[in-house]
Amino acid sequence: MSFPALRMRRLRRTSVMRDLVREVQLQKSDLIQPLFIEEDLTADTPISTMPGQRRLSPGSVIREATALADRGIKSVILFGIPRVKDEVGSSADVADGVVQKAIRQLKSELGRDVVVMADVCMCQYTSHGHCGILRDGEIDNDGTLKRLARIAVSYAQEGVDVVGPSAMIDGQVKTIRETLDDHGFKDTAIMAYAAKHVSSFFGPFREAAFSAPEFGDRRSYQMDYSNPDEAIREVALDIQEGADIVMVKPALAYLDIIRRVKERFSMPTAAYNVSGEFSMVKAAAREGWIDERSAVLEILTSIKRAGADMILTYHAKEAAEWLG
Ligand code: PBG
Ligand code: ZN
Repeated sequence: MSFPALRMRRLRRTSVMRDLVREVQLQKSDLIQPLFIEEDLTADTPISTMPGQRRLSPGSVIREATALADRGIKSVILFGIPRVKDEVGSSADVADGVVQKAIRQLKSELGRDVVVMADVCMCQYTSHGHCGILRDGEIDNDGTLKRLARIAVSYAQEGVDVVGPSAMIDGQVKTIRETLDDHGFKDTAIMAYAAKHVSSFFGPFREAAFSAPEFGDRRSYQMDYSNPDEAIREVALDIQEGADIVMVKPALAYLDIIRRVKERFSMPTAAYNVSGEFSMVKAAAREGWIDERSAVLEILTSIKRAGADMILTYHAKEAAEWLG
C-alpha cells in the first residue's frame, strides 16, 4: 500500500487518536531523582551550576523525599558531601556518615514506599578527588576494591535498596556482590555504572559535589567515548559479575549505546541524564531560547525510546508535574 491509499496522517488527526497509537510512554515511575546531601549544612543551599537543584542539609532529606514521593517520584539516588576528606576517603564508610544516616532515616520513615539508591564511589570523600585510593600517584585498582565493598556494606547495613558502584574500577561489581552476600545482604541490588564515559557533561555535578579531581583527569578509569564495542564489553562484564541493573552514562550523547545495550542484553537498563545535560536545557530555557517543558519531555522520551527502562535525572520533580 502506498499513497494515496496510504495516508500516515490519518492516525495523527486527533489528540485521542495520537494517544492511542503512541509507542513510547514516559512515566513518573521511570524517573530517579539524584539528591545531594551535605553533612555540614544546616539549611539547603542552591547549586549555582544546576538551577533549581540544592545541596540538602541532613535535616531536610525526609522532607524532600516525601515531597518527591507525593508527586510520584519514588526513587532517589543519594550523593554525600562529607565534612572531612582524606587520602583514603575514610568518611565514606562510617556508620554515622552523611549517606548512611540519610538511608537510615529514609528507610525508617518511608520504608517500602520509596526505592533508596546510593552512589558508591570515593571522589567526594578523597582529598585528591579521584574515585579510588592512590598508590604512587595512580589509582590502585585492587586496593580500591576493598574500600568500595566496605562502603556498599555500610549502606546495606542501613537498609539501602540499591547500591550504585560508579568508580569504574575493574572487579567492583564482583567484589561488592561477594562482600554483600558474605555479610548477609543477599537482597541488596546492584545498579552498575557499567558504561561510564569520560565526559565534559559532568562539570556542573563536580561543582555541586566538590568532587573535581585535584590533579589529572579520570581517563585511566572512565571510558573513552569513542569506543562503543568496549562499552558493550564493560556491560557484559558487569552482568557476569552480578549487576542487577546496568547503566549507561551520560545519556543524551550516548543514545546509540543505550540502544545496543538494551537490545543485546535485555537487562534492566538505566541511563543517567547527567548534570551538564540538565544545565544546558536550564540555561537555554532561561534565555528563552527553548521551551523547557517540551524540551525536557522530548529528551526524556528519547532516552526511553533508545531503550532505557529508568532514567536518573535532575528534571524528575518538574517532569512529574508535567506528566500529571
Ligand atoms: C562520581 C559520580 C559523578 C557523577 C555521578 N557519580 C562524577 C564524576 O565521575 O566525575 C556525575 C553525575 C552528573 O554529572 O550528573 N563518580
Ligand atoms: Zn567517583
